Amino acid sequence: MLPKDTLKERVAIVTGGGTGLGKAMALEFARLGARVVVAGRKLESLQQTVSEIEKMGGKALAVPTDVREPAQVENLVAVTKQRFGKIDILVNNAAGNFICRAEDLSVNGWRAVVGIVLDGTFYCSRAVGREMIAQKTGGNILNILATYAWTGGPGTVHSACAKAGVLAMTKTLAVEWARYKIRVNAIAPGPVETEGAGKALWASPEAHRLVEEAVPLKRFGQSIEIARAASYLVSDYASFITGEALVIDGGQWLGHGHYLGALERLTETDRGL
Ligand code: COA
Repeated sequence: MLPKDTLKERVAIVTGGGTGLGKAMALEFARLGARVVVAGRKLESLQQTVSEIEKMGGKALAVPTDVREPAQVENLVAVTKQRFGKIDILVNNAAGNFICRAEDLSVNGWRAVVGIVLDGTFYCSRAVGREMIAQKTGGNILNILATYAWTGGPGTVHSACAKAGVLAMTKTLAVEWARYKIRVNAIAPGPVETEGAGKALWASPEAHRLVEEAVPLKRFGQSIEIARAASYLVSDYASFITGEALVIDGGQWLGHGHYLGALERLTETDRGL
């Protein structure tokens, strides 16, 4: 566990901070001493995160924002600076996703997901990056990927393409902004039990079971497991790490492609059968 003052005095923006992984990261950053600005489309859920942080004795602010709109992103940065005076950390977590055959995906469906994930990540990174460059104190940007950024994601072509773009952005900005002491990293979570992902990706009990079975650790991840890794990556404990994408998936993507049944047979051999 990271010490309680790990992010003391830091100011963090978390997009999509009203629910799921974004909320878990916002709460954990606050627990570690950060002042947190949560941005997203639904004010009510943002306010819920803020009130939970305030109950812990922390400081937080909700800023309604659609990351697809550059003017709203500029407003987010301006309001954060006004309230907390600076920005040290940005987590590009806002996302949209649904399962749809590529041949059935509408232009609007494509644009909605690519707009939030790829465009939104760039708009936020650019706006916050400019502030961090001007502040001359460095900073941390953390992007949330998915492992299908590498493997492709049948059934989620919009999200897979957008996340692959964000992976390229992570590596590009890590090098481009290293001169300003801005570190840019990413986390690729596997299946984590959140309401949003559950509804979008494993809505039925059977789908849930199949996903769980495909994870070598044989369970879903928990939001706090992502939030702890996120806290580490944006903290000084990770001060020489940049351009990295950390997979946190219980081994899910490594489990693909092995000979079916081989593991079970190995176990039988081990038992002398
Ligand atoms: N299947 C097929 N198409 C879908 C869809 C689905 N399940 N959900 C949305 N779309 C299409 C819509 O039909 C629309 O296209 P159309 O105008 O051609 O009909 C287009 O996507 C935009 O939908 P709309 O609801 O107007 O857009 P939105 O910007 O409000 O939100 C999402 C779209 C996908 C981003 C929405 O589901 C969302 O806000 N999700 C956030 C939470 C989330 O997805 N979490 C998942 C984490 S893994």
